[in-house]
Amino acid sequence: MEHVPVLLEATLSMIQPAPGRTVYDATFGRGGHTRAFLEKGARVVALDVDPAAEVEAKRLEAEVGADRFHFHRVNFSEMESVMKQEGPADGILLDLGISSPQVDQAERGFSFQQSGPLDMRMDSTQGTTAADLVNNLSEPELRNLLRDGGEDRDPGKIARAIVRARPLATTVDLATAVCRATRPAHPGIKHPATRTFLALRRAVNREGEVLQQALAAVPKVLRTGGRLAVLTYHSAEDRVVKHWIRAHAEEEKREMGMAFGQPNPERWVKALEEEVPSEDEIAKNPRARSARLRGAERLPEGSK
Ligand SMILES: C[S@@+](CC[C@H](N)C(=O)[O-])C[C@H]1O[C@@H](n2cnc3c(N)ncnc32)[C@H](O)[C@@H]1O
Repeated sequence: MEHVPVLLEATLSMIQPAPGRTVYDATFGRGGHTRAFLEKGARVVALDVDPAAEVEAKRLEAEVGADRFHFHRVNFSEMESVMKQEGPADGILLDLGISSPQVDQAERGFSFQQSGPLDMRMDSTQGTTAADLVNNLSEPELRNLLRDGGEDRDPGKIARAIVRARPLATTVDLATAVCRATRPAHPGIKHPATRTFLALRRAVNREGEVLQQALAAVPKVLRTGGRLAVLTYHSAEDRVVKHWIRAHAEEEKREMGMAFGQPNPERWVKALEEEVPSEDEIAKNPRARSARLRGAERLPEGSK
């Protein structure tokens, strides 16, 4: 399935791409958002760890020219080092999670709808795979991974079932083991293995850690007046972004009054209105279902 960019219009109004502005698309994927930024006249610097994304990006680079679009195959946690080559950003987009082609390619191991190896690496050239984790972690380690990463309701039971079913080779082996420990999947109800797969994907790609590192780099990469937009697809990830924005956003007027209007260096952004997809978008693109877009604008120095 082709990747349809999620909340495209809302992302464009948040990022405000335009001639003379540089936008960092930190999660290029198949370039859905990038193409729209380019159409609005912005220069785009794109990042992705996936070699398949790089193939698509190189094609686009040849099409539009390296002065308008430049791709780096790096983790977005390394955004600051990219900035040292490319200069600061007027907009940064993080569209977290995986792209539709990644889900659809059985050999990437992200989905239990079709049998594939238990891989789940976004950078398929290096690092620990899901098979390494499910076959080698101790039962308590697996339980903690499932509890922290996917909000599984009964992580102990699932960890035990996984350990009993070892060695696990394929996505279907894992889904079957999870189903044995829980209840059978019914149409219309979230498959019991969904949370287990999410937890493993997050651990394989160290998603919590790299998101924190990327957010920590934002003040170094984003220009004054520039905008950050983050699209998340599950509540644990959304919480991290929400708390980060709250921790750095200007305080309510009432609190400012109490602080006698003194500038607070910790409060350097203005939170932007959050957005979720419409019923119509979800009907056309079911993968947008759990999406939430949050954003912030960098305030001028000493503006408060
Ligand atoms: C949801 S897709 C982005 C789709 C894109 N906005 C589009 O419209 O085509 C997320 C992409 O981010 C990449 N990705 C995820 N985590 C990453 C990270 N830490 N660093 C760089 N790329 C990452 C994935 O490989 C995937 O291609």
